[in-house]
Amino acid sequence: LIETKIAEPIRVENRLDWQTGDLDQIEKTLGSVSARYSRTIPELARGLFSAGGKRMRPLLTCGVIRCLGGSPAEFAEVVVTSEVVHTASLIHDDVVDGTRTRRGAPAAHVAFDPKTAVLAGDFLLAEAMRTIALAGRLDLLDLAACTIRDLVEGEVYEWEKTFDPDQTVETVRTIQQLKTASLFEYATRSGAMLVDADKRIIEQAGRFGRGLGLAFQAVDDLLDWTGDAGTVGKPVGQDLLEGKLNLPAAIGVSNDPGLMEMIKQCWDAEDCNGEGWIQKIRERLENDGAIEKARKLADEDVADALSAIENWPEGPVKDDLGSLAQQIVQRDS
Ligand code: FPP
Ligand code: MG
Repeated sequence: LIETKIAEPIRVENRLDWQTGDLDQIEKTLGSVSARYSRTIPELARGLFSAGGKRMRPLLTCGVIRCLGGSPAEFAEVVVTSEVVHTASLIHDDVVDGTRTRRGAPAAHVAFDPKTAVLAGDFLLAEAMRTIALAGRLDLLDLAACTIRDLVEGEVYEWEKTFDPDQTVETVRTIQQLKTASLFEYATRSGAMLVDADKRIIEQAGRFGRGLGLAFQAVDDLLDWTGDAGTVGKPVGQDLLEGKLNLPAAIGVSNDPGLMEMIKQCWDAEDCNGEGWIQKIRERLENDGAIEKARKLADEDVADALSAIENWPEGPVKDDLGSLAQQIVQRDS
């Protein structure tokens, strides 16, 4: 659960005024999703939007807009498109993964039915694209289309690689770039594009979001091995049990080819989890330093993200973007 894994990214009492105001605007805009005839589509969408989620992506867009001297209220509809696409992708993801709960509540395909869920996801995607088209921004439309293409290709590529012993660190990072970092990059890059920043600033905004997205996913992968199962909300080693080598596992295998033999035995075992394989693999990742290397990579991603915006105007908004970045790497759930 991508959203709920963030432990209170920005506590309300610590939130600066700009975030509280922008968040209100984001909620209001998300809540206004409507369809012309269908009763179910807005019901499903509003149910999901009100079930939680930290709105990290649109808040990043607002932060970038403000840092560059603009006003998010001017772009309220376009600002939420990252959240709309994110939500559509999760609706579809839960169908294709067969996951029954999302954000602590029944997934859309369980609360409604798979047909309604898939089609409501399609509707939300179309709405996001229409919003951008109505804003008259062909450049943003292209960026959004490329981002959705990345999400879909990342999901399919990951599926193709499932239980494949040839998953390398490069494969894993490519999947993470496509599935996670692309939408973070869309959020920050679009903020700079909306205020018509110059090309160099737009590239910096993109690098900022990409670094945050990669770090976010690296931490997700670390928590899969080191987190408390209760806090994280899923068992240790879940990715491996699903046939995915995440970052620590891929680093472990690249340093120690014998580990792949162990993983293959785990995948072939009658009851991979029950026979203690996961525990043994976890210890090996720990002892080989793979966990530590993955943590270092996450720190480097954040450092790279922050260095991309180091020349941006100093002030409370930039400080807040920095603390959001820190919270991404320091979370424990
Ligand atoms: C969560 O992954 C899923 C994604 C980050 C993207 C999923 C993309 C698709 C299903 C393609 C369709 C895309 C659109 C835009 C409709 P996860 O299963 O690793 O994480 P989870 O634990 O949150 O389920
Ligand atoms: Mg999933």
